[in-house]
Amino acid sequence: MTAMKKALAALAGLAMTLPTLAATAPAPKLAATPPMGWNSWNHFAARIDDATVRAQADAMASSGLRDAGYRYINIDDTWEGKRDAEGVIHPNAKFPDMKALADYVHSKGLKLGIYSSPGPKTCAGYEGSFGHEAQDAKTYAAWGIDYLKYDLCSLGPSMQAAGSIEKAQAIELAAYIKMRDALRATGRPIVYSLCQYGFDQVWRWGGSVGGNLWRTTGDITDKYPRMLQIGLSQAGLSKYARPGQWNDPDMLEVGNGGMNAIEYRTHMSLWAILAAPLLAGNDLTKMSPETLSILANREVIAVDQDPAGRQGDRIKVEGPLEVWAKPLAGGAKAVGLFNTSDLPANMAFDVAQAGFKGAVRARDLWAAKNLGKLKTYRAVIPAHGVVLLRLG
Ligand code: GLA
Repeated sequence: MTAMKKALAALAGLAMTLPTLAATAPAPKLAATPPMGWNSWNHFAARIDDATVRAQADAMASSGLRDAGYRYINIDDTWEGKRDAEGVIHPNAKFPDMKALADYVHSKGLKLGIYSSPGPKTCAGYEGSFGHEAQDAKTYAAWGIDYLKYDLCSLGPSMQAAGSIEKAQAIELAAYIKMRDALRATGRPIVYSLCQYGFDQVWRWGGSVGGNLWRTTGDITDKYPRMLQIGLSQAGLSKYARPGQWNDPDMLEVGNGGMNAIEYRTHMSLWAILAAPLLAGNDLTKMSPETLSILANREVIAVDQDPAGRQGDRIKVEGPLEVWAKPLAGGAKAVGLFNTSDLPANMAFDVAQAGFKGAVRARDLWAAKNLGKLKTYRAVIPAHGVVLLRLG
């Protein structure tokens, strides 16, 4: 049997057993709630090195973000050096000793993540894992790595050359399964983050190839229209998320300077309702009090991290006004009223639209204010703004 056929057969088997598994499976140990942490790419891109990663870990701990739930310190692309005569990957000069770095990050009560590609090259043109999957997984485990982002990139051309969508997909699935098996074989719990920009309805199969999370979109930028487009494009995907398996609309831009505080609160609220991974993408050593207050808001984080592990979805849209709701443990709901227009707007929301019969207790999470029991909520929402409520 070819690797491709094996991958397809494995998938077909999984697809048939999944419903039973979902009903009886114990809570997953890895990514039981959406992963929280930091990633180097959005702010530092190729300017990431050992000293910067240590400084981010220090700031994660000293700022209080670690204690608010942020745990992973993830090195994205551009750490990779050359392979030696035995094919073992080594970091480049920016990372003199990856094991020592992992030890340092662990000593802060944090975890370390790394990045690679199933193709021969990463997106930034560095060494990928193609043909070295088992070897790389062993190396990561020996360093003490806790999280791998596996970014499709240069596998793309061989998929295009495959001649049909089915054959291309089989190449992709086989590649993700190969690294899943390699990671499992190490015996070390390593969160597996698929990155292929949401092609081929990855939300339908990302979990079955071992993904704890999978990117559902192309790259975010630090601009309100792009952030909004990505966030709102998640409508309809809620049924594919569950503990251990999350849709990933990309990392946070909060604090990077391209949006105002109202827009960043919208970003954080939408990601929390989406049960999205919360991976800060800013420089944690230079946070304004406002940035910190957005990233560290425990009531908003609690929406994202709710133990029921259910992703929210759009429940109403009227032109630029959108209402999204997320079911929470114990029957409560988080409801976000989003005004995506360029002017302030009056919004009214009847709690019956979120399934409540009669008046229900309401709390405004960003204002940290109890609103008493209500049937209808009315507010003027600023341009690009949100009100995030907890109901019930
Ligand atoms: C792709 C990914 C980004 C980042 C870069 C690194 O564009 O989607 O998140 O990892 O590659 O090169």
